[in-house]
Amino acid sequence: MIIAIPKEKDDTRVSATPKTIKQMIAAGYKVRVQAKAGEHCNISDNEFKEAGAEIAPNQKTALEGADLVLAVNSPSKDIIDRLNKCIWVSLFDPGDANTIKKCIKKKIDVFSLNLIPRITRAQSMDVLSSQSNIAGYKAVIMGAYLSPKIFPLMMTAAGTINPAKVVILGAGVAGLQAIATAKRLGALVEVSDVRPEVKEQIESLGGKFIEIPLTIEEKKKASDKNGYAGEISKDYLKRQAEEVAKRLEAADIVITTALVAGKKAPTLITSEMVNRMQTGSVIVDLAALQGGNCALTEPGKIVTKNGVKIVGHTNYPGSVAVHSTQMFASNIFNFVKLLIIDPKNKEKKINIDDEIIKATMITKDGKIMNSITKNLIDGSDGTEDMEKKRK
Ligand code: NAI
Repeated sequence: MIIAIPKEKDDTRVSATPKTIKQMIAAGYKVRVQAKAGEHCNISDNEFKEAGAEIAPNQKTALEGADLVLAVNSPSKDIIDRLNKCIWVSLFDPGDANTIKKCIKKKIDVFSLNLIPRITRAQSMDVLSSQSNIAGYKAVIMGAYLSPKIFPLMMTAAGTINPAKVVILGAGVAGLQAIATAKRLGALVEVSDVRPEVKEQIESLGGKFIEIPLTIEEKKKASDKNGYAGEISKDYLKRQAEEVAKRLEAADIVITTALVAGKKAPTLITSEMVNRMQTGSVIVDLAALQGGNCALTEPGKIVTKNGVKIVGHTNYPGSVAVHSTQMFASNIFNFVKLLIIDPKNKEKKINIDDEIIKATMITKDGKIMNSITKNLIDGSDGTEDMEKKRK
């Protein structure tokens, strides 16, 4: 089987490193890398070549005849036009109906790394965790860079400087890394999350949990079966907002990471709350791409509102491409090892009975295989499943 590694158009990361290329070749694949694919993460074409890959001068030659394409982001229209029946693995929004329809037409079997289940066996493939971890770290560094204050307590002959106050909303993978990073820099850290079970994790990293007592009913619904935040009552959000608003008034840096799987990010900071914050404070909104946790966030921009800087960057891992690529490439190759039964046998390809593979499969043989996608595209493109549903 031939694996193609395209150069990402709008991302600094790449889906393979010389180390993973060597592993692919040892496993029996042929690997083709598009020229300059690693230019933003310090990997030269020569290094890819020395690892055993063929270097293709452009996208067309890189993708020609590929059996398996490994990428960071989902394919553009141009890429899909260039592909024939093959397997595509990347981050891929299961609700992206347009791209999915195009892949179905070209019989591209799409596997989305966004859908890797949160089970122990899948941890080595979990790109959402590896990239969120980096995002949590970088968010704190970004906040520190933009803040007019320093983080640590300093007792000097020129006087005492109090430690910075950092408030973190959401203590998933990114939030926990943000707590650890802010603590290492010397800040006082307070954290809010709807899942009560995170209290212990927050405290073990030196953070203080902003506790909002839950009713028995709210406690039952706070986390879903996959460990993600569950249904949150309006009343809880109101109590949380009142408590968080008090902490925001005193905060120097606020990092928001709150997400609810499959939904728009919850608005936890209203414009009124921003107006009550100190001049010079910074909000780094890691949920910017999912609608933002702050009502005033503008995706892709840094804006200043009432003296408060609000950072809406949407690709933190891409800003530290060397290490995010190292982790991404390792995750994706671990996934490929499970996905493909025998790299030397093109016919017997996909390990379709594995629960991780099943969970990540969006399309196969021109059909939609994922229920979220099915609901979204219902009535489209005449795949067999869709036809049956309509009848
Ligand atoms: P996420 O990215 O979906 O959400 C981030 C955080 O926001 C979560 O902690 C969530 O509870 C919180 N949140 C949602 N609504 C909120 C609100 N209104 N106010 C405050 N906080 C709010 O979460 P992530 O990072 O994907 O982690 C989800 C869970 O999965 C965690 O428990 C994590 O430890 C676990 N996990 C397990 C893995 C495994 O076993 N393989 C791998 C990765 C994560």
